[in-house]
Amino acid sequence: MSKNMIGRLNHVAIAVPNLTAASELYRQTLGAEVSEPVPQPAHGVTVVFVALPNTKIELLEPLGEKSPIAAFLERNATGGIHHICYEVDNIIAARDRLKAAGARVLGDGEPKIGAHGKPVLFLHPKDFNGTLVEIEEA
Ligand code: CO
Repeated sequence: MSKNMIGRLNHVAIAVPNLTAASELYRQTLGAEVSEPVPQPAHGVTVVFVALPNTKIELLEPLGEKSPIAAFLERNATGGIHHICYEVDNIIAARDRLKAAGARVLGDGEPKIGAHGKPVLFLHPKDFNGTLVEIEEA
């Protein structure tokens, strides 16, 4: 009955306590294609991109004093899945549909420019089975 809204899995983001060690784990142990670290001061993280044939994994390490993943790493000292990101065609239409369905959009509800230079929003994990969901306009 309802029309598809989310599309491809854009990425899975994993918070890690040590980006060098996590990069080696993905490069050597898992045999994946791993980028150099990319500092993103505006987002409070340094990111390593792991390219897979069907999606990306983003390894996130805190950057700076007010990193949005610092509290998560305090609760999950060895790291853990922080969020998953689904692509949508139209982020405003998606937001309005989600809000109408009762889902909570984090922050002020206005899309921000995310790590890929595209508009993103985050949805409350308690509304999505304990998973922090990011939607990105593809
Ligand atoms: Co993300």
